[in-house]
Amino acid sequence: MTVQARQMPPSRQDIQQAATVEETRARMAARLAGIVPEFEVELKADLAFRINQLKRERGAVILGHNYMEPALFHSVPDYVGDSLELSRISTQTEAKIIVFCGVQFMGETAKVLNPEKTVLIPAEKAGCSLAEGVTVEDVKRLKAMYPGAPVVSYVNTYASVNAESDYCCTSGNCTAVVRHLLEKGCDRIIFIPDEYLAHNTANELGVAYVTAPEGDADTNAGVAPGKPTVIGWRARCEVHELYKVEDVENVRKQYPDVVILAHPECSPEVIAKVDYAGSTKGMIDYVKNISAPRYLLLTECSMADNLAAEFPEREMVRACSLRCKHMNLITLQDTLNAMEKMQYKVELSQDIIERAKLPIDRMLAIR
Ligand code: 13P
Ligand code: SF4
Repeated sequence: MTVQARQMPPSRQDIQQAATVEETRARMAARLAGIVPEFEVELKADLAFRINQLKRERGAVILGHNYMEPALFHSVPDYVGDSLELSRISTQTEAKIIVFCGVQFMGETAKVLNPEKTVLIPAEKAGCSLAEGVTVEDVKRLKAMYPGAPVVSYVNTYASVNAESDYCCTSGNCTAVVRHLLEKGCDRIIFIPDEYLAHNTANELGVAYVTAPEGDADTNAGVAPGKPTVIGWRARCEVHELYKVEDVENVRKQYPDVVILAHPECSPEVIAKVDYAGSTKGMIDYVKNISAPRYLLLTECSMADNLAAEFPEREMVRACSLRCKHMNLITLQDTLNAMEKMQYKVELSQDIIERAKLPIDRMLAIR
């Protein structure tokens, strides 16, 4: 009996190298079968073809975050990844123009790392509830409340806040960054702005956690002398905070063999119930490296679609359709406009670039 080899769907590179719109459409349809309806591929293939043409003409590179919608994610980025990977890649590319299909803070990080390059984000108003949740004044007040405590800012903050920080980190290396500070003897570490990520990181490292009190409350509340403590802030991701313990329990009841993965921006109660917690790249690698029949991802829901297109034989349980309203603003049409009109340029003052660089460089150095 002869075994029929499974036909591999076209890769992202195959789609980008298509010579005509028709070829682009056929390759996108094959890659996105069962994920994106054919009429949508029909509409979007023309945009993808024009973006890929312009990208070559301009010598630009496109970076795509893992939360991009499937038609965009699988057709135009030269590199895809999580915040940490894409920041690293931005420092390695020769291209003079970086089009970052991601939200504002990601574009700002790329600009700090590449001040001489043109960094474009396709959607001008693509923010993030975490980045909006902490200000420079908040950081200054925290520093005054806990003198000498280093400030670690999650990279989901604006460059102006990074500039006030000692270290940046992503969900991919937050544990390593905080461990590094503990090993240096720091017993109070300010970790902003995500309350849940800070708490989950403290839990993982087995150290105490307290959320900084509001106003002029007693700054020592919950911080025992000599006991290593992570001091968090009150911002949350408006997507990940929606996942509840009951969601995990209900899905496990329905699918006892399901592997559940979550982003550490989910609450500590949810994280305690899942099989794996990690950055978007961490979750993708986990799915790649095991072979369970079904997976549930507690994160922005485009990612499950993007993984399903890559691993058609694995079942992604679609228990929700939670999209980040900021990531959702970034479309193929916006990306084409960005390339045609060279918009929206990420602009930062020289002072912010200079002061934000050290904490961001430290983030890239710690794995
Ligand atoms: P990652 O760095 O894990 O890709 O996460 C970015 C993000 O915005 C999560 O909500
Ligand atoms: Fe920000 Fe949450 Fe959207 Fe990520 S998913 S960009 S943390 S609002």
